[in-house]
Amino acid sequence: MARNKPTVALTFAFHPEVIREKLAPRAGVVLARTPAALRTADAAICMLWDKIDARWLARAPKLRALGTYSVGTNHIDLDACARRGVRVANTPGVLSRATAECAAALLLAAARRVPEGHELCRTGRWTGWRPDQLLGLELLGRRAVLVGRGRIGEETARIFRGLGLKVEWITRRDSEKQLRAKLARAQVLSLHVPLEESTRHWLDRARLACLPPDAIVINTSRGPVIDERALTEALRKRRIFSAGLDVYEREPEIPSALRRLSNVVLLPHLGSATAETRRAMAEQVIQGVLDLLDDKRPPNEVKIGT
Ligand code: GLV
Ligand code: GLV
Repeated sequence: MARNKPTVALTFAFHPEVIREKLAPRAGVVLARTPAALRTADAAICMLWDKIDARWLARAPKLRALGTYSVGTNHIDLDACARRGVRVANTPGVLSRATAECAAALLLAAARRVPEGHELCRTGRWTGWRPDQLLGLELLGRRAVLVGRGRIGEETARIFRGLGLKVEWITRRDSEKQLRAKLARAQVLSLHVPLEESTRHWLDRARLACLPPDAIVINTSRGPVIDERALTEALRKRRIFSAGLDVYEREPEIPSALRRLSNVVLLPHLGSATAETRRAMAEQVIQGVLDLLDDKRPPNEVKIGT
């Protein structure tokens, strides 16, 4: 029986060749720029900057499936989706390696003061080699504490171990006392948890105060997992050695107090930004949405509730 092609609305025209190859043969593709486009959509694919809540869903009354071109789902009200019967797919797994490599890039840069050295060269202010110039920290044998043991955390641990770091984990099962003991020996603290109510400001002023003076904080998860003001103060007062950040509390705003510091490495949310990974994310989110429209159970369906 011939069926009409479903309509899939994109909030952003990502990866045109993947859309052409994988989505266009199976669906009518529209850009969700006008209310009319959303009104007729059977499915939509959104970006992490879209805020998908009950109001947004009300503009898409026919919607049955939602894909997000991200592993994080903190921009989506999953309960509102469940209430409306909208199933959701994301991009788990395919970006774990790229994100872990980004964490490693931040760590090496923060430990070896790469931005300060780069700045010295770029501005023509380097006057020659000195025995005491821009001394950093050697990673071999240092203790890294990773928070969040999902795929990205595990992949990061593999790379960190390859760099000679000793890895241990903080998990949800740790008591506050156990957690603080681990923070006290965290020469590297790297965050790999999703943003949810229980992880908002997970690294707050009190927990930052537990870190040793040679600590390097790495964040490739979500900005609000750290109290950014408290971290800025700890860096400014040199209570910790440095930080490498890919994410911020109010992206794309990066407070000037943070931008002014020399002991921080800043990236513009590039965790998954490799050509290979971005293509794989495009293919995975499209396949997930097509499967959901076919009433299948794709492996990248986001489990809602429990
Ligand atoms: C990026 O931050 C993602 O969630 O994919
Ligand atoms: C999700 O948590 C992932 O690590 O891919």
